[in-house]
Amino acid sequence: MTAPLKGRNFLALEDFTPEEINYLLDLAHEVKRERYEGIDQRRYNGKNLLMLFEMGSTRTRCAFETSGCDLGMGTTYLSNSHFGKKETIKDSMRVFSGMYAAIAYRGPSHAQLLEMVKDCTIPVINGYTNHQHPTQMLADAMTLQEIWGRDGLAGKTFCFIGRGGEVNSFSYAVMCAMLGMNFVYVTSFMEFEEALSKLTPSQREMYHKYVPEGTMPNHWESRMPAEKRAIVEALYAKYHPECSFIETDDLDAVKGVDAFATENWGFFTDPAPAWLPGIVRFRPYQVNKELLERTGNPDVVVLHMLPATHNCDHEAGKELADIVAPDDPELAEFLHKGFEVTDEVFEQQAKHIFREAENRQHTIKAVLQAVLG
Ligand code: CP
Repeated sequence: MTAPLKGRNFLALEDFTPEEINYLLDLAHEVKRERYEGIDQRRYNGKNLLMLFEMGSTRTRCAFETSGCDLGMGTTYLSNSHFGKKETIKDSMRVFSGMYAAIAYRGPSHAQLLEMVKDCTIPVINGYTNHQHPTQMLADAMTLQEIWGRDGLAGKTFCFIGRGGEVNSFSYAVMCAMLGMNFVYVTSFMEFEEALSKLTPSQREMYHKYVPEGTMPNHWESRMPAEKRAIVEALYAKYHPECSFIETDDLDAVKGVDAFATENWGFFTDPAPAWLPGIVRFRPYQVNKELLERTGNPDVVVLHMLPATHNCDHEAGKELADIVAPDDPELAEFLHKGFEVTDEVFEQQAKHIFREAENRQHTIKAVLQAVLG
């Protein structure tokens, strides 16, 4: 396949065919090999890359910036501009189109991204929106290919466990549907009131100092939204009807799983006590030694897109553990060993997890190269 994606936007995996996704993965392996061999990759000298980020990022931003530099491009990281505030999106996009060869965008609204591309004459790459995290999925698929072999994904069973919300479980489900893997989404269906009732009186009081009584936390629903389920089911029917797709709260569904992914329990933007009901809800779905044993697969792989909360060695985790310790020492001890993944499993699987992080760069470079042509 020769430069079939030149000029295309990269907004969601389902906009592409499995052949095109595999083309991007092949290209990622190729640019990784080049980089390891010290081959000069400056193919886009004189071109510029804009990273327009309306949300925080470590890996995605670094992967775009280093990829742009490796490819010889000038890069701009823009997070505090007039965009959408004191200037219309349409006008900003017309400005960017005149100065840059491609745009990487991260922001909370996919609907806005779809608006942005209408007024843009250069390729736009989705670096995470509330629809999907497609460049992350390429890095995960590449990592699994490195572990299992380039043709090793077909027929494997991938499980996303924990807080999938509207983006993560969906992104992995689309990846699996396109690449021929079974997908199991295991999450908690616990209602908010039940989680609240399981807190100790002092934890509830502390929680309500930050979240008023009668208020539902944002994004409590963990089931995949119906419209996203429909996209996944249509992709499986079209490309891999032989594969299965399950959403459940039953931990027995992890039997036979080949790889897990999980995500932090989603509270980085909130004060630590606001995490408490979510911890109650997701605690049984922690990726720990017992969960891995349940699979019956001694070679099961664990991925994590990061940042991970695998211990309390960070400000928010420490604050929370200190707060609960006097009243609930058992919870404090649990948190010290990890939230969504235990420190033990995280460190045991670190070789995969940090390879996955590095592969953000190679896969993003491949996407850039493909859309620039
Ligand atoms: N995995 C990921 O997207 O990381 P950042 O939020 O740090 O970019």
